[in-house]
Amino acid sequence: MKVFVVLLYVVGVLSQGLNLDKFRQHDYRLILERANILRYDKEYMNYAKIIPFKCNRTDVALNATLNFKINVGSDLVVMLQAYRFASNEYRLFPMRMQDKFCNFLKANVAGTQRLLNCGNFGGCLLASNTNITLCNFIPDGSKFPPLIPSGSYKMDLHALYSNNELYVIEAYVKIVRPEVK
Ligand SMILES: *[C@@H]1O[C@H](CO)[C@@H](O)[C@H](O)[C@H]1NC(C)=O
Ligand SMILES: *[C@@H]1O[C@H](CO)[C@@H](O)[C@H](O)[C@H]1NC(C)=O
Ligand SMILES: *[C@@H]1O[C@H](CO)[C@@H](O)[C@H](O)[C@H]1NC(C)=O
Repeated sequence: MKVFVVLLYVVGVLSQGLNLDKFRQHDYRLILERANILRYDKEYMNYAKIIPFKCNRTDVALNATLNFKINVGSDLVVMLQAYRFASNEYRLFPMRMQDKFCNFLKANVAGTQRLLNCGNFGGCLLASNTNITLCNFIPDGSKFPPLIPSGSYKMDLHALYSNNELYVIEAYVKIVRPEVK
């Protein structure tokens, strides 16, 4: 019952238009377990790869290379759909959001501005036929939406450009809260 109420609240928060500046919280920790490219469309992409690796005892970081065949510029759109692990499988979870990648970057959602610290990724303009390299990226859970229930999640990030799906990233994360004693 309690979980159900929380779910409805999450849907309510996320459907009132995306106010990315509200993606701030200190209630739970987001732990990345792994991520990979689920698929990419060879019509639009020369190459897409993610390498997850353990950077110390607690954190997994990501290296990635993206190479677009088309000049995406600042028009990449990201649609996130969450699935929550329950009864042995990841089930559709009512958390879905979509916005321009540039807006996510500007608002530093999930710490995306950290992507500017490593590799040759230079910001929201995405050029064609260039290896865009991202490295040592650890997401920042304090810049993620509040009120997400604890649990194991799969987050599918669909990268879209004028109604075409260029690639899909599958990220497995845990949402954990300190135990209340
Ligand atoms: C693991 O590495 C990350 C990134 O360098 C750092 O933020 C984090 O504090 C480290 N954790 C530990 C336990 O050293
Ligand atoms: C781009 O990355 C791919 C995969 O890592 C590599 O095979 C290719 O040589 C790279 N191209 C350039 C120009 O660096
Ligand atoms: C990740 O990228 C960094 C920076 O290019 C590199 O030093 C490191 O070896 C890479 N790690 C893996 C596992 O590919």
